[in-house]
Amino acid sequence: MTTTLTTRVAIIGAGPAGLLLANRLRIAGIDSIVIDSRTREQIEHTIRAGILEQGTVELLDEIAGSRARTVGSRHEGIELRFAGEGHRIDFDALVGRAVWLYPQHEVLRDLVAEALDAGQDLRFEVTAEAVVDEASDRPAVVARTAAGDEVVIRAEFVVGADGSRSVARPVVTGSHGGYFREYPFAWFGILTEAPPSAPELIYSNSPDGFALISQRSPEVQRMYFQCDPDADPQAFSEAQLWDELQKRVPGTTLNEGPIFQRDVLRFRSFVAYELRKGRVAIIGDAAHTVPPTGAKGMNLAAADVLVLERALRALLLENDERPLDAFAETALRRIWKAQHFSWWMTSMLHVAPDASDFDRKRQLGELRSVVESEAGSTYLAEAYTGWPLD
Ligand code: PHB
Repeated sequence: MTTTLTTRVAIIGAGPAGLLLANRLRIAGIDSIVIDSRTREQIEHTIRAGILEQGTVELLDEIAGSRARTVGSRHEGIELRFAGEGHRIDFDALVGRAVWLYPQHEVLRDLVAEALDAGQDLRFEVTAEAVVDEASDRPAVVARTAAGDEVVIRAEFVVGADGSRSVARPVVTGSHGGYFREYPFAWFGILTEAPPSAPELIYSNSPDGFALISQRSPEVQRMYFQCDPDADPQAFSEAQLWDELQKRVPGTTLNEGPIFQRDVLRFRSFVAYELRKGRVAIIGDAAHTVPPTGAKGMNLAAADVLVLERALRALLLENDERPLDAFAETALRRIWKAQHFSWWMTSMLHVAPDASDFDRKRQLGELRSVVESEAGSTYLAEAYTGWPLD
């Protein structure tokens, strides 16, 4: 059985990019249908990163019921640790901005609740299989429900906000794909039931490799340490995990507790060669991936949304195609700055498996150049808290 639905914008993916776009289009009076292959439960429980730029929080302020400022916590700096010493990067003093620690799955709970309350057509367990007619002014998404029925969503524009395994991306980029870089290390991540070990996040470069001491709530901490990309998350005992983490942050005694989740995150940098073809565009992880060191993933998705929203408003409300023609170029300017920042934080803080003594010494020189220079620290603060959204 095939059902055909009609809307103005068909959005594939109910992650931060898809739901935020639907929210903003709805406010502008533009109807959309959002589909996602996952259940609501899966969407709301996938553990992802946790840092929101100030501009992202300001966008979430427009979401009724957003708890980013109430449940999330404001961080006015981070600590860079190397050669056995900690150095605070004071965002507030350097750039007058801050970030919020508010995990992505909580952002998603807020966005899903707001969408359903506002009567958004949001369908879970509907899997996009193809995007068709992208060159016409009536493209469509062909999808399938969990029961096996076909759904065709006919729209004036299709948006792929469907993550790194995007169905929309091949339609946009053809067989070209994108710019890609893989790293010779990954992060071993844990969640542990114990209060924060330090007031702010610690990014630590040590001879044994990188570690990040982050937080989730007053009761739960998130921590990562650099590991081999092929590491088996189950191969370490809890005692070994604490040992690995602790030796990488000399000078801080980590608060230990039961480890109730562990995962290995691979590091990739990716930017699609094209972000739009005809009436199909890709945003968020469908368009790009950054390694997590710069905490840019979800923030970059939010920035894409703003640029595309403006283009779609012009196209669908004023029949003006110019902002859409500029969409990719405008979005890519920020995407490549974020790619650079993420790559830079990653390469400055991690120890490459084949690093020579020269590389290690040079890296410490680089870290000193950042913390001992107001210009160096200001660049980090500016990029981490987020360049202005226009
Ligand atoms: C996290 O808390 O999961 C987190 C924080 C900062 C990062 C990456 C991940 O750079």
